[in-house]
Amino acid sequence: MSDRYGHDVVVVGLGYVGLPLAQAAAAAGMRVAGLDTDASVVASLSLGRSHVDDLSDDDVGAMLAAGFTPTTDASVVADASTVVICVPTPLGSEGGPDLGAVVGATRSLATHLRRGTLVVLESTTYPGTTDEVVRPILEAGGLVAGRDFNLAFSPERVDPGNPVYGIVNTPKVVGGHTPACTDAAAAFYGKVVDTVVPTRGTREAETAKLLENTYRHINIALVNEMARFCHDLDIDLWEVIAAASTKPFGFQAFHPGPGVGGHCIPIDPNYLSHNVRTRLGYPFRFVELAQEVNASMPAYVVRRVQDALNHDAKALHGSRVLVLGVTYKADIADQRESPAVPLARGLLEQGADVVFHDPHVTRWDEVGADVPRVADADLEDAVAEADAVVLLQRHRSYDVDRLAGLSQRFLDTRGSATPRPHVERL
Ligand SMILES: NC(=O)c1ccc[n+]([C@@H]2O[C@H](COP(=O)([O-])OP(=O)(O)OC[C@H]3O[C@@H](n4cnc5c(N)ncnc54)[C@H](O)[C@@H]3O)[C@@H](O)[C@H]2O)c1
Repeated sequence: MSDRYGHDVVVVGLGYVGLPLAQAAAAAGMRVAGLDTDASVVASLSLGRSHVDDLSDDDVGAMLAAGFTPTTDASVVADASTVVICVPTPLGSEGGPDLGAVVGATRSLATHLRRGTLVVLESTTYPGTTDEVVRPILEAGGLVAGRDFNLAFSPERVDPGNPVYGIVNTPKVVGGHTPACTDAAAAFYGKVVDTVVPTRGTREAETAKLLENTYRHINIALVNEMARFCHDLDIDLWEVIAAASTKPFGFQAFHPGPGVGGHCIPIDPNYLSHNVRTRLGYPFRFVELAQEVNASMPAYVVRRVQDALNHDAKALHGSRVLVLGVTYKADIADQRESPAVPLARGLLEQGADVVFHDPHVTRWDEVGADVPRVADADLEDAVAEADAVVLLQRHRSYDVDRLAGLSQRFLDTRGSATPRPHVERL
């Protein structure tokens, strides 16, 4: 790397995406700084504490030892060879894209942008964002993308909790504003990851990410819709999926569940459908249908709990329901957009006495004090005492068949429990 630069890369936004990237860049021998507007994130990282699942405190300690500099000071961008933006892209109050963090981060780095810098946007967003939102802000000071600085989009594909695929062995798609920008971004990522996949431009790279997540969203909706009628027809969908999965080509298994969660699947496809609708005036029907089906799953699971209690001549009103696993996926602590929240609210609205357990969650702030936590040591007693138990997340630490065996009624939304008269799968 050139000596002109104090830092080889500044990662903007030190969350689930930015921090692992900063780690991989540091491991590749780069001088790395991390810029975040949240002073508490910067302070805890500076003390060697990790706040994301995939990195331990020791990992952060190793990064600091290798020279990683977390900061809230945007001027760090001025001496950086490359700047990568990894800030959140949530939905706004109307359900459309909220690019506030992308715009804010781009404005703060534009003030310090120097000739020759490579700027990459990694935040998931609708096609055209890099060119139409990020580029004009960066060019406002007079520098021109593709001539004075390089600009690219490269979607992040991090899969939190995945023990096999991390940043280094997951191919990285890169699309530049110009072919030279693509080359510059590919050269940067080529030092960090095993495989770089160039695209024609920024829009192709932006849309590739949305295709990946929309594909998951739609296929999960497909099996979620099948779960309802297979239950009514007394067909075991889990066996159906296992049988279909033996086809060695042309089929990929997706499984039903209590709804979709996390920062990606429930949100990103809306960036695409919203964009299609506002720009072109027509709907992206698959996405809208998938949204409808997946969003209805928490209410469907509430109904299945109600039906299960009915077998014991019990009303949901007044029954104790224990919810197991409230994070959005197994074996991580991330609760963002978890379907457990609307599900617990639905149970509360029906008058159920709801308690929860999750080995990764000590406080479930989203549902408040109405849903107390069962202590780890009391889990088996709580399972036995509850009128019904609903498994929402199959965390590794749960011995599902043992817990199901202790319960009075057990509804497994993840298909892992062995069915018995009082144990059913979604
Ligand atoms: N989490 C995932 O599994 C995942 C996977 C692929 C893609 N993505 C995408 O990556 C992007 C980042 O997601 P994340 O999960 O890392 O978010 P996150 O909330 O974990 O972290 C974002 C960080 O950015 C900081 N930030 C917000 N505004 C800022 C600003 N103006 N300047 C500097 N820092 C700012 C926040 O304080 C926070 O620390 C999103 O677009 C998301 O859709 C996430």
